[in-house]
Amino acid sequence: MNILLLGSGGRESAFAWKISQSPKCSQLFIAPGNAGTGQYGTNINVKVTDFDGIKQLVLQNNISLVLVGPEEPLVKGIHDFFLADDQLKNIPVIGPQSEGAQLEGSKDFSKQFMVRNNIPAAASKTFTRETMQEGFEYLATIGLPIVLKADGLAGGKGVLISLTVVEAQQELIEMLTEAKFGEASSKVVVEQFLQGIELSVFVMSDGTHYKILPEAKDYKRIGEGDSGLNTGGMGSVSPVPFADAAFMQKVEARVIIPTVEGLKKENIPYKGFIFIGLMNCDGEPNVIEYNCRMGDPETESVMLRIKSDFVDLLVGVAEGNLDEKELIISDKTAATVVMVAGGYPGEYLKDKVITGIENVRDSQVFHAGTYLDGEHVKTSGGRVLAVTSLQDNMFTALQQATADASRIYYDGMYFRKDIGFDLL
Ligand code: AMP
Ligand code: GLY
Repeated sequence: MNILLLGSGGRESAFAWKISQSPKCSQLFIAPGNAGTGQYGTNINVKVTDFDGIKQLVLQNNISLVLVGPEEPLVKGIHDFFLADDQLKNIPVIGPQSEGAQLEGSKDFSKQFMVRNNIPAAASKTFTRETMQEGFEYLATIGLPIVLKADGLAGGKGVLISLTVVEAQQELIEMLTEAKFGEASSKVVVEQFLQGIELSVFVMSDGTHYKILPEAKDYKRIGEGDSGLNTGGMGSVSPVPFADAAFMQKVEARVIIPTVEGLKKENIPYKGFIFIGLMNCDGEPNVIEYNCRMGDPETESVMLRIKSDFVDLLVGVAEGNLDEKELIISDKTAATVVMVAGGYPGEYLKDKVITGIENVRDSQVFHAGTYLDGEHVKTSGGRVLAVTSLQDNMFTALQQATADASRIYYDGMYFRKDIGFDLL
């Protein structure tokens, strides 16, 4: 079958790498892709939110399955667009319809869903401009630090953690009345701070059945020792030692089953990935957030650990028989080191020539913010490359991915050399 993959990051490079190995995939198209995804299929320069452009490309290339990488087209209703179109309605889209995508698209929706379905999470309340005064009162009661979340999509920047009530009040004012995050902060979720260690859990669901993909831990801060500004993600490791069988059993019973059952009970169709951001609070899982897609840079590590035919699993999601599909997971460890542009996550350098990828020895190099300029691969994004290595243990995987990242060069390049430091 011909498959269309939407997106252009490291996550999509890892998907493309894995899909291209499947005997079930005849031709893979990636829209828009990057300089690396061209190795695994055909890049087509159509934006992920250009639904009419995507329709043309699906019809022209006889596509029979669409995998959506990022959240934006899902929240904007790409799956609904397919279902409403006579020529597209029988072509499966992997990724939920806009209602299910609200699990990520609206923090208020997702918190209410967790409450209705008894899923463990931090206590919270949602406020608007009209109820800001009540918001101030609530802030003063929930203890410090205080977590404020813009309701809508804010490019991963919509969560603020305040150390004092005064600071939280100021942030609440800016979010609600000064549109700090635009329309996304017209509603704000005020939430209790959860103390613990984070984990990313990934579930694939056909709406009835589910499979738990390898879990991962991601490293969001720019600096070593988890210091400095938040980024899209600087590295990942899978498996995660503290996510042992006992912990994962709690996650399945208290979070995964109630989530999949809750969606079903509430008649919210969901064919796609559920990314559950969890806090392990002294051995007890609490949900921090849901995303309606896979994580980046977690997918890079996760794909290397999946031994089964990934396309077969996607077909299971599409056809509703995921329970009949096989998911075999490697017990080796995958580690990913993300190489970023100089200046990131602030204003960053672009158009720098990348060299040395051919010197990498035992890692996959997944492109993220790259483009081809004649015969040169150049940088275009903040996150430039993800270097992922699969080895017998975590120490070797981290060492290999880090050593291989060092073999690559571009002006201003930076990567963390301490990914996994808290797990070793
Ligand atoms: P989110 O955009 O919801 O993933 O939040 C971004 C980051 O903020 C998370 O990865 C956590 O590190 C942190 N965070 C969000 N909610 C909480 C919470 N209730 N307690 C502690 N940290 C949180
Ligand atoms: N790595 C976190 C995310 O993809 O949102």
